[in-house]
Amino acid sequence: MATRPEVRGDIRDIGLAEQGALKIAWADRQMPVLAGIRERFAVERPLDGWRISACLHVTAETANLMRTLMAGGADAVLCSSNPLSTQDDVAASLVADHGIPTYAIKGEDRDSYYGHIAAALDHAPQVTMDDGADLVTELHTRRTELLDGVVAGTEETTTGVIRMRAMAAAGKLRFPVLAINEAATKHLFDNRYGTGQSAIDGILRATNVLIAGKQVVVGGYGWVGRGIAARAAGMGGIVTVVEVDPTRALEAAMDGFRVANAATAAEVGEIFIAATGNLNVWGAAHFPKMRDGTILANAGHFNDEFELPALEAQSVSSREVRPFTREYTMADGRRIYLLADGRLVNLGAAEGHPALVMDMSFANQALGLEWLRANAATLQPQVYTIPDEIDRDVARLKLASMGIQIDPMTPDQQAYSESWESGT
Ligand SMILES: NC(=O)c1ccc[n+]([C@@H]2O[C@H](COP(=O)([O-])OP(=O)(O)OC[C@H]3O[C@@H](n4cnc5c(N)ncnc54)[C@H](O)[C@@H]3O)[C@@H](O)[C@H]2O)c1
Repeated sequence: MATRPEVRGDIRDIGLAEQGALKIAWADRQMPVLAGIRERFAVERPLDGWRISACLHVTAETANLMRTLMAGGADAVLCSSNPLSTQDDVAASLVADHGIPTYAIKGEDRDSYYGHIAAALDHAPQVTMDDGADLVTELHTRRTELLDGVVAGTEETTTGVIRMRAMAAAGKLRFPVLAINEAATKHLFDNRYGTGQSAIDGILRATNVLIAGKQVVVGGYGWVGRGIAARAAGMGGIVTVVEVDPTRALEAAMDGFRVANAATAAEVGEIFIAATGNLNVWGAAHFPKMRDGTILANAGHFNDEFELPALEAQSVSSREVRPFTREYTMADGRRIYLLADGRLVNLGAAEGHPALVMDMSFANQALGLEWLRANAATLQPQVYTIPDEIDRDVARLKLASMGIQIDPMTPDQQAYSESWESGT
């Protein structure tokens, strides 16, 4: 048996490594674009010697991203970006098989979560990688002594990009951040098709309910909400969308969904899926209107889309009735079921997005880091959109990996598409 390197990091159980390795290899088979980048990185070493602290969901797909960064020469450590999203077996394999210090335990409490971020920051990063901006927020508040050493960062998700833009607008952000979420090959696919499928997967694994014929209420009709609404409808759910943006509400209506306000939907829904990135979409005023047996699932980044303190306060008791399903009994006897503690249901109660879609998100991360290595010195402390060339490259590579061929424009078509002279 091969000897394993000394355990570095804080994980549940190093003995889970073998199972984690199988999971990582399974995901790798669905991540050909990232695998191709990894092969090139191993030769070119574009991240040579870069100290990276990454705060991402510790899943099999993330493991393949970390392998890619290491192949490129990075010196990376990893902590979890959510207390419930860690796959303990994957964390074990990262440490045992890849020698990547990993700080993440599924179900960790708040202190342990922030302790793990602190441990990742002890690595004194030159580069940060975030999913939700918790690492960068810690860096700018409690670990300011490390800021001078940081050259750049990346941010994976919508909520993190919003937080970092707010930091930049307030003049607080101290280094350039590349918004991976802004790549079309990220949010069009990961947020929409990835979460669309995996949020439903999380609900099914937690409850095993039948979607067909159910009243499904989706909060938010952004990239994530659109995906969830489409998939829920595809399984026979009767979907109502709740939106605050008039254009998106209209889009939902013309996509064929019912559109209602939060209060009206509260009385109708049987399954609520929140995907707004906002807080208290349903709360104290809505829980008394909800039907007996209502299921609450959150797909947005933070566990505040349902007003959980109000749910606690209005209930007389609660108990875990299935893994990741907590039953709240209300004073009048109705029961409301909260999945995955109100945390992202797809990562808490299931395995997150399928690898095939994370292939594109993480190809953007890897190529984005390579771009930052070459360009960070010329950038300002702002949030940057991922360059279009990288985005289109990822699309081209993904198409090729799927065996799909498309035509380039002919020279005539190219000239025509850029001209104004030809008319009727
Ligand atoms: N679970 C996952 O794996 C996963 C993956 C990607 C993104 N996310 C997260 O999902 C959330 C949504 O992401 P997105 O890319 O769809 O964002 P988005 O900005 O495209 O969409 C959010 C939508 O919610 C609407 N909204 C805001 N407040 C609302 C309210 N009070 N009621 C109803 N609608 C409201 C907005 O108008 C917007 O249309 C973010 O928190 C993001 O970080 C989660």
